[in-house]
Amino acid sequence: MEFSINSGSPGKQRTGCVIVGVHEGRRLSAPAQELDRAAKGFLTDVLRRGDHDGRPGTSLLLHGVPGVPADRILLVGVGKEREFDESAYRKAVDTAVKVLRTTGATDCAFYLTDLAVRRRDTAFKVEQAVLGVMEGLYRFDRMKSKPPEAKRALRKVVLHVARRSDIAPGEQAAARAHAVAEGVRLARDLGNLPANVCTPSYLADEARELAKHHGLACDILDEHDIEKLGMGAFLAVARGSRQPPRLIVLEHRGAGKTGEAPVVLVGKGVTFDTGGISLKPAVEMDEMKFDMCGAASVLGTMKAVALLKLPLNVVGLVPATENMPGGNAVKPGDIVTTMSGKTVEILNTDAEGRLILCDALTYAERYKPAAVVDVATLTGAMVIALGHVATGLFANSDALARELVQAGEAAWDRAWHLPLWADYQEGLKSNFADIPNIGSRAGGAITAACFLERFAKAYAWAHLDIAGTAWKSGGEKGATGRPVALLANFLTRRAA
Ligand code: BES
Ligand code: MN
Ligand code: ZN
Repeated sequence: MEFSINSGSPGKQRTGCVIVGVHEGRRLSAPAQELDRAAKGFLTDVLRRGDHDGRPGTSLLLHGVPGVPADRILLVGVGKEREFDESAYRKAVDTAVKVLRTTGATDCAFYLTDLAVRRRDTAFKVEQAVLGVMEGLYRFDRMKSKPPEAKRALRKVVLHVARRSDIAPGEQAAARAHAVAEGVRLARDLGNLPANVCTPSYLADEARELAKHHGLACDILDEHDIEKLGMGAFLAVARGSRQPPRLIVLEHRGAGKTGEAPVVLVGKGVTFDTGGISLKPAVEMDEMKFDMCGAASVLGTMKAVALLKLPLNVVGLVPATENMPGGNAVKPGDIVTTMSGKTVEILNTDAEGRLILCDALTYAERYKPAAVVDVATLTGAMVIALGHVATGLFANSDALARELVQAGEAAWDRAWHLPLWADYQEGLKSNFADIPNIGSRAGGAITAACFLERFAKAYAWAHLDIAGTAWKSGGEKGATGRPVALLANFLTRRAA
């Protein structure tokens, strides 16, 4: 997809489709008014006949409008002007792309970027338009036996800005967002692949490919290496599976030879979570193929970071394994020794994410990191707490938490800071080992974060629980690629 920025008039665009907003109450936005003048009141007539009223989520596609050189005009309902915020803007972009996909237009002129979004500048609107277009055109059909019929596809999007002086910042924003969108796409592809394809070794191969094409360093540790490191908790999870585990290490050395402390990203890579001996119920268990979305987002972010050539050192760590029941599987009550030396009583084999992450967090110490951020589909309780809107954020450093919240706001990939107060640690008591792998069910997302926190004492650390945001269920089932945009924004700010 090719994106460019322009400030030309909508009535003069020779293009497959001009996209303009209509406010609720049949009020044409400024670019729509310009089109209307060129078309001698054609749009006003259409609205008067009652075919479109500007409500959010609605649209109307017009062909061959007289006086206008564009093949089509797409009117997009953008709701009340006073209520036009970030969510309304993204909804308008998404609506436009949905209609555009059904047309034969190969290029379009996009004027929703002209609308005023409260508190937001042109760069934000351009970024969200690029991400929204890439997201809306995304298809995952590589597992279908026949490729879907080849339709004329959209190839060029011209994003319009109000002033000529907005063109240069608009172009920078588009380029940035395009790199992020490539990372999001990789994360979605990996998430959507079925678990019989996307195994721990497959993830490792993907990481190697990524490294080869984007100038990253890559190291893949196998079962022997993991054992030598003493990662008893990680290995305990992997025991029940025929698929061997992998520890993936990717490094972006963007800070040159300064020896600058890296940011380490850690992604939960459970390529399928059956629950193990503490077996999950059958309903929707297929969605546990998405239990490696944390890993996918780390690989996606590494890709974005490489494309953006960020002058920053970033390490991606992915412990990858299946969580399966089997004759050799770890059992409830088993006690294992983690890489840190702490022993863990595994009371529930379905709380496996924290077991693989705790050893990866200990491994991260060797980098003397500036910060460590782990990303994991860690708890069902997170979905109950925040639903599918915000990612749960926990941290042992308020400064780091603030940075991540702000990055999420800026990238419109939001996270919400939850408490990690010592009071919540009380449930983590074992009669037999140093700690159990589960705490109280109440506040389950927090008690899970408390477990991780015990292994993250050596550095500033944050944990993103993406159980509610990494994928969608139902008719639109599929990986979202979150929180690649948040992480890419966070790292971009750190690099500046
Ligand atoms: N991968 C799941 C968490 C999950 C469940 C994410 C459903 C999204 C939807 C995780 O490994 C898990 O099973 N967690 C348990 C923890 C419990 C046993 C303490 C959970 O949340 O039920
Ligand atoms: Mn589980
Ligand atoms: Zn899991």
